[in-house]
Amino acid sequence: MKNVFCFCYTILISSIYIQAQNPLYIPDTLSGPIYNLTVQDSSKIFFPPNVTPTYGMNGDLLAPVLILNKGDSITLNVTNNLNTSTTMHWHGFHVSPENDGGPHQVIDPSTTWSPSFKVRNDAATYWFHPHLHKNTERQVTKGLAGLIIIRDSVESTYDLPRRYGIDDFPLIVQSKAFDAFYQLAPFTSYDSIIMINGTIDPFLQVPAQVIRLRLLAASADRTYLFGLEGNMPFYQITSDGGLLDQPVTLTRLRLSTGERAEILIDLTGMQGQNLYLKSFASELPAGIIGSSQVGTDDTLTGYYTNPLNGNDYNLLRFDVVAQTSSPVLSIPSAFAPLSPWNESEADVSRDLIFTLDTLTLLFSPVEGPFLINNQAFHMDSINVISYLNDIEIWRLINTTEVAHPFHIHDIQFYILDINGAPPPQGQHGQKDVVLVQPGDTIRFITKFETFADNTIPYMFHCHILHHEDEGMMGHFLVVDTTAVALKEVNSIQEIQLFPNPTRDYLYIDAKSISDENGLGIAVYNVLGQEIYSYIDRREDGKIKIDISNFDSGLYYLIIKTDTTHYQGKFLKLQA
Ligand code: C2O
Ligand code: CU
Ligand code: CU
Repeated sequence: MKNVFCFCYTILISSIYIQAQNPLYIPDTLSGPIYNLTVQDSSKIFFPPNVTPTYGMNGDLLAPVLILNKGDSITLNVTNNLNTSTTMHWHGFHVSPENDGGPHQVIDPSTTWSPSFKVRNDAATYWFHPHLHKNTERQVTKGLAGLIIIRDSVESTYDLPRRYGIDDFPLIVQSKAFDAFYQLAPFTSYDSIIMINGTIDPFLQVPAQVIRLRLLAASADRTYLFGLEGNMPFYQITSDGGLLDQPVTLTRLRLSTGERAEILIDLTGMQGQNLYLKSFASELPAGIIGSSQVGTDDTLTGYYTNPLNGNDYNLLRFDVVAQTSSPVLSIPSAFAPLSPWNESEADVSRDLIFTLDTLTLLFSPVEGPFLINNQAFHMDSINVISYLNDIEIWRLINTTEVAHPFHIHDIQFYILDINGAPPPQGQHGQKDVVLVQPGDTIRFITKFETFADNTIPYMFHCHILHHEDEGMMGHFLVVDTTAVALKEVNSIQEIQLFPNPTRDYLYIDAKSISDENGLGIAVYNVLGQEIYSYIDRREDGKIKIDISNFDSGLYYLIIKTDTTHYQGKFLKLQA
């Protein structure tokens, strides 16, 4: 992070030189339909005898693993016992915006938030974490994050390991910075300590058969290049949001912050041996946080002295023990075909351009802050309005020196291309995070289905937590216009309304409208009910209307002349 903070950080231990000595912690599981999570202050001893203050859910760090079944209706009771506000976001989930747990669903201290919804996602590995405006990094770094396993009736037909903690293991991979007082610090350039499921220098006993690892890259900003010692092959079976169409044989798997993948390793015949899971960070391309070089500013204290950056390091040692009963002994040859949308079906294409915010006082080409389409996140702005059931193509263009893991709520997407070329095999499936390297252009396709809300937005953002907290985030609304006859009017022209969103007044740019008499202005709500009509004359081609007593929400404004209907939409914010 910024140089001013560097004086108080010491690198306590370099993970590279440590021999695995702690049994990997396997979190408890919770099953539904009701899940109770208590977010609490706690502490943990990572470096005896020093006590490190932490946050945890139902424990001192991280959370139980939630096991969900697709199709079930569930309720999650999230009780906030911190003395500060938080939120809880179900990352990767297709839920309505009020259940999403973004910055708008604040859980005040000593209160419980209880979203109820149907599980609609496909079987895969997801996660949950706080999303409080400007505080995500602080709260995640202090320990708040958990893994979610969704099961479904398709995945369960394949011969895959799925006995939790026996042949199917959660691996929440994080790197943490400790300060000189053994406090977990959200200054991520100093994150030299690797933890898996909260365990430093872990080892795990695994049976000599096919095992399944559910990998979650959950550092504040670090990307991992997973691989096995000796370049032993492994098999990727899922992307973020579901099974791939077939296992992909790999020796390296790159996951950036927020991404998940499930892999199979065939340990048959290896009883008595051990094997390291590593991050081959020396092979990461420049620009990716975790590689040897990020951007042109190499004066950043912390990054270049952090032994994890640009070096290969151990993550976890497997000690291979005897086979279990009824082991899985082979890798499936194929799964169900994927069903991406076709480019020709797209209703809308959008560009999201990542830039450096050079207008802030302390900007750095490497540290940011960064912007999307030249806008910094604002709690009251809507950046994108999408229509329910529209298929959209989003083009992500990174003009900065740093790779950004882009994430979008509500939906899973399919990558169309990366710099014009098809994505690597392991990224063909459903995704909700994609790493956009410096200079890259990535296109994905998605459909905004099931949920629409005219006032509560979803988020899209960079999943590097301090980029997100510092404004590299936007809102999108999914709006249902099918109840409104307005969309059926054919020969309508768009009209400029500003400011938009707005609280008190709305200006209409009516310069181009030719009418000798006053203009008839009508405003409709999303149900198609007329709630305002007025005849007005223009001043300087502008019409001002007072909307201060409207309820918050989305409105349509129509001006009818003899020949044309002019239509615009605006968002009225709460006063
Ligand atoms: Cu993992 Cu907007 O979040
Ligand atoms: Cu998310
Ligand atoms: Cu970023």
